[in-house]
Amino acid sequence: MSDMSISLNTATLTHPLSQWGAERAESVVGELERGKVICLPHLAFALTEQEQTLLDPAVVDPKRKNISYQPLKDKLTGVAAAEQEPAVRALLKRHYQSSLQLIAAILPEYEQVLHTPTNSLRVHPVKAWSKSTSWRKDDSRLHVDAFPSRPNYGERILRIFTNIHPGGESRNWRVGETFPSLAARFLPRLKSYSPLSSWLQNAVGITKSRRSHYDHLMLQMHDAMKADADYQKQGPQLAIDFPTGSSWICFSDQTPHAAMGGQFMLEQTFLLPVDAMQNPQHSPLRVLEGLLGKPLI
Ligand SMILES: [Fe+2]
Repeated sequence: MSDMSISLNTATLTHPLSQWGAERAESVVGELERGKVICLPHLAFALTEQEQTLLDPAVVDPKRKNISYQPLKDKLTGVAAAEQEPAVRALLKRHYQSSLQLIAAILPEYEQVLHTPTNSLRVHPVKAWSKSTSWRKDDSRLHVDAFPSRPNYGERILRIFTNIHPGGESRNWRVGETFPSLAARFLPRLKSYSPLSSWLQNAVGITKSRRSHYDHLMLQMHDAMKADADYQKQGPQLAIDFPTGSSWICFSDQTPHAAMGGQFMLEQTFLLPVDAMQNPQHSPLRVLEGLLGKPLI
């Protein structure tokens, strides 16, 4: 591990919340926006006996990594057998509702501004998919999240995770340096942006909208981090274990992270406009614009 190691104190904030529908508690928005992982060691998500039977890799369509659900469209994808869809749908719907309650309790500033919710049920062992994939898709390498086909023009990616492993296995992560330090390290190595190739990629359907300069840089950074074996080994990082029965929250476009081990997790994603943040200057968009001295979207 690097001598530029990161401490639990600088990388995380622990919060005692134990109920999704808790009364409004102290907001964690300031620490979250600075890139910390908010750890909720007592926030478990209870499964019914029937739901426990869904914790099986055979539940997922073999062509997909995870089961995902868009609650506002009631759209479920990735369930292998149609007869299991109602139970999976009910579970993910309830998880979405619980996530909204959690936001109201500890991130009330975001209640009205988060949008485009998607959640997922992940049942494969992390080690199984990290071995079977290309380096670019290998999430056991430190990275920040960026969507290759869905440019997001600087919008924040907020993610809530819950370890639901029935056998007590932790989810093992590594987390990395702050975004300003990450950006200063990688920016000089990134390929320059070509508006023409972004236009072409959109025209032929590789992307769902034109990739902005910001989206180009985030994807480049995602790839440059994963491709750099020295950075993966020697770069600033901290191992964190999230026990079963615990939850955690982070901005996954800002906080470098790598999934090293574990199985069975619920995950809720929201998008957030930069200007809806308490301190937009902490966003990757504003940090990159500051370093480059120009607008990126
Ligand atoms: Fe990720």
